[in-house]
Amino acid sequence: MTGRINNKVALITGAGSGIGKSCSVLFAKHGAKLSLADVKNDSMIELSKKINSEGGESFISNADVTSNDECKSLVEKTYEKYGRLDILINSAGVTPRYAPKDWDFEKKWDWVIDVNLKGSMMMSYHAIKKMKLNNGGSIINLASIIGLVGYAQGLSDGFNPYPHSKGGIVQMTRDMAVAFGKSGIRVNSLCPGFTYTPLTKTLTDDSDEHQRLISLHPMGRLGEVEEIAKAALFLASDDASFITGINMPVDGGYTAQ
Ligand SMILES: NC(=O)c1ccc[n+]([C@@H]2O[C@H](COP(=O)([O-])OP(=O)(O)OC[C@H]3O[C@@H](n4cnc5c(N)ncnc54)[C@H](O)[C@@H]3O)[C@@H](O)[C@H]2O)c1
Repeated sequence: MTGRINNKVALITGAGSGIGKSCSVLFAKHGAKLSLADVKNDSMIELSKKINSEGGESFISNADVTSNDECKSLVEKTYEKYGRLDILINSAGVTPRYAPKDWDFEKKWDWVIDVNLKGSMMMSYHAIKKMKLNNGGSIINLASIIGLVGYAQGLSDGFNPYPHSKGGIVQMTRDMAVAFGKSGIRVNSLCPGFTYTPLTKTLTDDSDEHQRLISLHPMGRLGEVEEIAKAALFLASDDASFITGINMPVDGGYTAQ
């Protein structure tokens, strides 16, 4: 296979669903060797089978990014299998909308920060050690428009950990980009607008809320996962060889207003 990231080794968390899954499909088409990870196994099994049956190369791991040990062993397994690590996509993420109803605000806050922010940090911590061995790499974090501006009215009471976690990712991206620039490791984030995935399904299933969200995007629609994956492919590829430390909106103009 030939492509824009031919023979590069990419580790993708949250690979079983939504944006992570779409990145997996696109990256395989562009020649990457894939290490797919998610806390849930079911949909990754089919995904990996399909990629491999179409001439790609992938394997799956059940891993929880809130566990430092699991992050470490996931990175080590990937490195042992392919002998290098070039790309990390931190797409594992959660929203407090899906937290157990009996959790109080503090427990929800800790959970979302743990998965979204700390998980991305720990995955990067272990990946960077391996990337240094091959003189560089590209890390792509999934931040959000909500890391750049406040949440749309009605979606946060001010204590919602989701925007807090995404704002943390935006600053972590800049900090790591500066720290590891000389090691040839580029660190960037994507800031998607509202995109159709299981994460946003409870919002888009409500037709009034769906229309309201559409009206907040100047392009008059929400995003598709493939549009986010194409931006990730650009940042992962050598086409973005002088780009580091950016938080790139892919948002139909949401943050331009
Ligand atoms: N969909 C959107 O509108 C949108 C917008 C901006 C940013 N994002 C971000 O993009 C990323 C992907 O979101 P998505 O919409 O594809 O969501 P999704 O729910 O479709 O996929 C997220 C995946 O992460 C996995 N995951 C959750 N907790 C995990 C853990 N502890 N360890 C490993 N895997 C775990 C889930 O099992 C799931 O497969 C998230 O960080 C999300 O916050 C999404």
